[in-house]
Amino acid sequence: MAQKRYVTQPDMTKIVSLAKRRGFIFPSSEIYGGLGSTWDYGPLGVELKRNVKDAWWRTMVHDRDDIVGLDAAILMHPRVWEASGHVEGFTDPLVECNACNHRFRADHLENPKGPCPDCGSKGSFAESRMFNLMFETYVGPVTDSASKVWLRPETAQGIFVNFDNVLTSTRMKLPFGIAQIGKSFRNEITPGNFVFRTREFEQMEMEFFVKPGEDDQWHDYWVKTRHDWYVGLGIRPGSLRLRPHDEDELSHYAKATSDVEYLFPWGWGELEGIANRTDFDLRRHSEFSDPDYAEREAKHLMYFDQEENAHYFPYVIEPSGGADRATLAFLVDAYDEEPGKDEGKDDVRVVLRFHPDIAPAKVAILPLSRNEKLVPAAREVYNAVRKAMTCMYDDAQSIGRRYRRQDEIGTPLCVTVDFQTVEGDQAVTIRNRDTMEQVRVPIAGLVSALQGQLCEMGSTRV
Ligand code: GAP
Repeated sequence: MAQKRYVTQPDMTKIVSLAKRRGFIFPSSEIYGGLGSTWDYGPLGVELKRNVKDAWWRTMVHDRDDIVGLDAAILMHPRVWEASGHVEGFTDPLVECNACNHRFRADHLENPKGPCPDCGSKGSFAESRMFNLMFETYVGPVTDSASKVWLRPETAQGIFVNFDNVLTSTRMKLPFGIAQIGKSFRNEITPGNFVFRTREFEQMEMEFFVKPGEDDQWHDYWVKTRHDWYVGLGIRPGSLRLRPHDEDELSHYAKATSDVEYLFPWGWGELEGIANRTDFDLRRHSEFSDPDYAEREAKHLMYFDQEENAHYFPYVIEPSGGADRATLAFLVDAYDEEPGKDEGKDDVRVVLRFHPDIAPAKVAILPLSRNEKLVPAAREVYNAVRKAMTCMYDDAQSIGRRYRRQDEIGTPLCVTVDFQTVEGDQAVTIRNRDTMEQVRVPIAGLVSALQGQLCEMGSTRV
């Protein structure tokens, strides 16, 4: 039965505050006043985001025979970005207010002829100009045009330029995919909404190479598969939707794209785009990387289909998601405030109802108090359980406070070591985050009892 929820759409300020207070996400370089729209993942945030990326990697790579992984460099040959179309076309229209000099994306302004949204001055925008979103840098000590490179704005191109290397080293046959997780950089004009739109972010991308003509059915398959991945990890289906792109919003390389969108507190936002990139990228890299391309029938970066005895450029279906956006969606979707009583008074229990595979810690081990007999016994239990699953130990403050603290960081199960444990029954109490039910189990069978409860809560990994 689905867990009852009390909050359907949390207040973003509460999420940002909890994220900082509990060590999920901090403003970057905060002691220097911060650097706009850059964020650091704290001790719990790094675990949460790793769990998101690990879940993606497992379902996309480890659980399948038709996808292999890659980890390409962030800096690439500058011609890559000419071939991909980014040098020419990865631009946004930018306008600047003549009064306050704040910059806006022209296509994001509600009324481009109206007053400046920041300073209110009227008719102060100059003509819009196109602004390339790629960050430039230079390799080596000389800062001239010959040494100019870009920080990659998408991880996908690292996959395309390695298509031949992967094919020859693995002997994969169509259809097959290459998956990669890594940092990308975009000099966004208007970043914002916490980690939703930042200038440095992580992408989880997979390029799935298929025979031309089979691309439409594979596109449908990946749209459904990627939508279902979020649902499988606990995102409420009512907070997700699929949105096919209109013809006029398709990227220059795409024949069709559908976005998986999540209903954030500020409205629907893209978590992931699933694009049919046709053979655009392989064809362009074949042309741009081969000086003799024009003179001969180049087979460079083509796939040789043995059954058909023919060379061709495969089509590509690309599910491309953001690890930071997914992490934010899991955080927002998990947030709940449950009304209850504390020592007879009305009280609210803040709970992050993470799916157990996403939760930063699966279990917390809590001695009832800092008593000299309880602490070593609890430590022994902790050392045994942490070998099997991500585990925390906490003995500060009252047991009630500690339960609340674990609820607020989304730990599915708490194990309490009490006087009965050390004086008699060699058993402990497991408390469930969502139901708050408690069961007594022998220490000898604790790990399998915990695994059983995590499975009941949806885990597929214990
Ligand atoms: N290779 C295709 C590609 O990069 P995209 O729609 O521009 O497509 C894919 O980006 C995903 O990367 C988005 O769905 C989003 O999750 C994430 N993403 C893009 N720009 C981002 C930004 N500025 N901040 C955080 N995540 C971003």
